[in-house]
Amino acid sequence: SGPDTMSPTGQATGAAQARMAQSGAYLTDAQGTRRYDTDHSLKAGARGPVLLQDHHLREKVMHFDHERIPERVVHARGAAAHGVFKSYGTAAAVSKAAFLAAGAETPVFVRFSTVLGSRGSADTVRDTRGFATKFYTEEGVFDLVGNNMPVFFIQDAIKFPDIIHAGKPHPDREIPQAQSAHDTFWDFVTLHTEATHHTLWNMSDRGIPRSYRMMEGFGVHTFRLVAADGSTTLVKFHWKPKLGVHSLVWEEAQIAGGVDPDFHRRDLADAIEAGACPEWELGIQTFPDTPEQTFEGIDLLDATNIVPEELAPVQPIGLLTLNRNPSNYFAETEQVAFHVGHLVPGIDITDDPLLAGRLFSYLDTQITRLAGPNFSQIPINRPHSPVNDMQRDGFHQDAVHRGVAPYRPNSLDGGCPFLAGADTGAYIETPVRVPEATKVREAPESFSDHFSQPRRFWLSMSAVEREHIIGAYTFELGKCYEQAVKERALQVLANIDVELCARVAEGLGLPAPEPTVAPADVEPSPALSQVGQTWPTD
Ligand code: HEM
Repeated sequence: SGPDTMSPTGQATGAAQARMAQSGAYLTDAQGTRRYDTDHSLKAGARGPVLLQDHHLREKVMHFDHERIPERVVHARGAAAHGVFKSYGTAAAVSKAAFLAAGAETPVFVRFSTVLGSRGSADTVRDTRGFATKFYTEEGVFDLVGNNMPVFFIQDAIKFPDIIHAGKPHPDREIPQAQSAHDTFWDFVTLHTEATHHTLWNMSDRGIPRSYRMMEGFGVHTFRLVAADGSTTLVKFHWKPKLGVHSLVWEEAQIAGGVDPDFHRRDLADAIEAGACPEWELGIQTFPDTPEQTFEGIDLLDATNIVPEELAPVQPIGLLTLNRNPSNYFAETEQVAFHVGHLVPGIDITDDPLLAGRLFSYLDTQITRLAGPNFSQIPINRPHSPVNDMQRDGFHQDAVHRGVAPYRPNSLDGGCPFLAGADTGAYIETPVRVPEATKVREAPESFSDHFSQPRRFWLSMSAVEREHIIGAYTFELGKCYEQAVKERALQVLANIDVELCARVAEGLGLPAPEPTVAPADVEPSPALSQVGQTWPTD
């Protein structure tokens, strides 16, 4: 490629990219040399030994041998689509992010996923679903890496390897695949009772969505929005599907999984191809940015908590439409690299300890998964804004950098444009006051209530949803081998609700234990029930 096909950082642009892949009328090898036969290796005589000198054979087989890359350590199975996000402008008062200005349109790429199954597992299993969105904004990439459930199993990222080890197949038999029906999962979530809330969501109908197009999405953590005048607001992000929230029933999920393990993947691609483009509204719940970072007594830094929509309504701020399927699964869906640290001016993080670990983990894992530090140059990951960084070289370096001084400031080329002025549109971390504190390895007292929020969820369910939850716990726990694990799970259920516990205990043929904590005095939140959904709004 000549210089005219290079971006300022030396990255190939559209036409050059296409040339790098398949083009031309003839079959060639990787060096562009025309080949007349790719079905026979070079031999000494038609039946004779194959000759080592056959470069075409060696090159072809060598490349095939290296076609696989490691699947994601979690969320390995996914399906994705391109689309557009149109901002209503309703968040412009609380965030200066350019893509949230009224009328702004931003290209996006969204990847949905299951969490625990391997890349070839079935779509319809009971699991949390990932809902990750890459906004290619004019100010850089913003990734909203969320799930279809608003809470998480753990409060501190240091336990993430443990919960995933517990949830993935057992190390000896490598079973079960992508099901929560096993001893280590239940052992973990009953020993670490902060997992109770997320587990309850998993056992509810939310664990078996009918379609990716009919799922809510949540940013889970509390984020901090920064307005043009520097004022800050704490927020939780919500995606609300225009089609409403719908689930499969368990029997449907089993049949669909058997008949078509690609049920959700196919559904998404077919719908988009047919022009039935799925839409979600992005919404925010807003909370005052007080030093305590709590709202109505709820610790906003605890990712096992929701804030009921009745206390803080979700305010719509824009519309997401998915309108184009990927043209190559590997290039796009597999190689996309999301990161919670990909933020743009106007959006900042909070001190949620789960978020802190994620900020490290995604970049770290992608260095292995995508073989080196240059994965932001892979087309699907490239910002749609100019890139002018000081990163050089490394595995899979695609750019041909110019200049001699890859550091700033310098006096040899380019001077020091990055040091001019305070707010030049650059990303500036919010100057949040860090409280005077002593270094400790412990959780705050405000993280210790593990049963009130699950109880609220249970009380918010309709009668049918409760039956489904009872059935799910009974089935999944029924597959555990260890009696002690089942008994501990029943104890957790007793602490949520005695009727829930009694019904599951009956199904398991075990006695129902007494609660060890007094039932929390909480009001139901109708918005938690799929029956109580108030979306779509028009
Ligand atoms: C992948 C969500 C917590 C580590 C993902 C993906 C999603 C997600 C949606 C898939 C992204 C894609 O489609 O490519 C969440 C949510 C969390 C959470 C909502 C909690 C609120 C964590 C924590 C860690 C972690 C605490 C580690 C400390 C990872 C890793 C991947 C991943 C390593 C694979 C990334 C890759 O290979 O590109 N997560 N996650 N996650 N997550 Fe999380």
